Amino acid sequence: MSSKKETVLVSGGAGYLGSHTTVALIEAGYDVVVIDNFSNSEPSSIEGVEKIVGRKICFEEIDTCDKEALRGVFERHEFNTVIHFAAFKAVGESVEKPLMYYQNNLVSYMNILEMMKEYSRPNVLFSSSATVYGEAEVMPVTEQTPRQPSTSPYGNTKQMAEDILRDCCAAYDNFYGIALRYFNPIGAHPSALIGELPRGVPNNLVPFITQTAAGIRECLSVFGNDYDTPDGSCLRDFIDVTDLAKAHVAAVDRMTQGKMKQKYEIFNIGTGRPVSVLELITRFEKANNLTLPYRIVARRPGDTPFIWADTTLANEELGWKAECDLDDSLRSAWAWEVHLHER
Ligand code: UD1
Repeated sequence: MSSKKETVLVSGGAGYLGSHTTVALIEAGYDVVVIDNFSNSEPSSIEGVEKIVGRKICFEEIDTCDKEALRGVFERHEFNTVIHFAAFKAVGESVEKPLMYYQNNLVSYMNILEMMKEYSRPNVLFSSSATVYGEAEVMPVTEQTPRQPSTSPYGNTKQMAEDILRDCCAAYDNFYGIALRYFNPIGAHPSALIGELPRGVPNNLVPFITQTAAGIRECLSVFGNDYDTPDGSCLRDFIDVTDLAKAHVAAVDRMTQGKMKQKYEIFNIGTGRPVSVLELITRFEKANNLTLPYRIVARRPGDTPFIWADTTLANEELGWKAECDLDDSLRSAWAWEVHLHER
């Protein structure tokens, strides 16, 4: 356990990425104030975090869209840094309900930024996504790879939020921002006490795989095997959620220790290793010693054929590197699914 550091506000800290990051921050010696409205998470994830770290954490049930409720958090707690996870994240749903996405994702974010400015709290760490790269032609993508026009309101909110942060950092003194562009987070904490809690039918690949293996879903649909890739299925950069959590600690260290080279910085958070959908299925089967029923179906509209990260900048500047073995991630994802059925 390292020495005592400062406090970090984590919005959406009961969610999949937020809960793992909360654990990593506490293990690195930070204090946390976690806020969440449980719109896409459960109180059990806070309990899971508390079991892992072995103590109660400071949690408040707050909707970040409620500005006055959020103001209370700033009045009650001293912190210099926020990690803003709180947002809706289902791409398809965002296409069907754009206003809901713009309202929730942008209003909550604006409230956070306004409060940070008003209370002179300088450091904003924003959860962005590789979705901003769209269908990039040259792989791997670096932070300099041009962003593509977004194909979904969800993706649009990520691009807008990046730009808003960039503009605030340029305009305001004592205002610093880091955007972390996540690739495909998978896996769960090795304790199986926290993990992803998809509501309804999962959109993402790994939760669909684990639910199929558990018999909740009859068969996994592989969306296309006729892409211009080695085995015809899409290539992605699957990063373990505990590695991703540690990237946040490195970014918070950088901000709080005054190591930023620019007022606004962007980092890719991935492994740098492309893995195909079909390869992931085979690896999952082998790692967990089970057979997964799957069939090839039509391509899913909007999917990019391949994307993986150039992680040089994060490796060199954040001093962070993804370390987890893919098979361990697939084992922890399965262990978490099993845990969900045992509770
Ligand atoms: C999506 C979002 C990304 C977001 C990420 C995590 C886009 C275009 N993508 O990434 O922004 O950060 O989720 O929430 O905005 N697949 C199947 N069968 C399934 C499910 C998925 O074959 O049942 C395939 C998909 O076609 C894709 C790969 O698995 O090739 C990964 O899909 P998914 O887990 O949904 O992530 P992305 O679409 O890469």
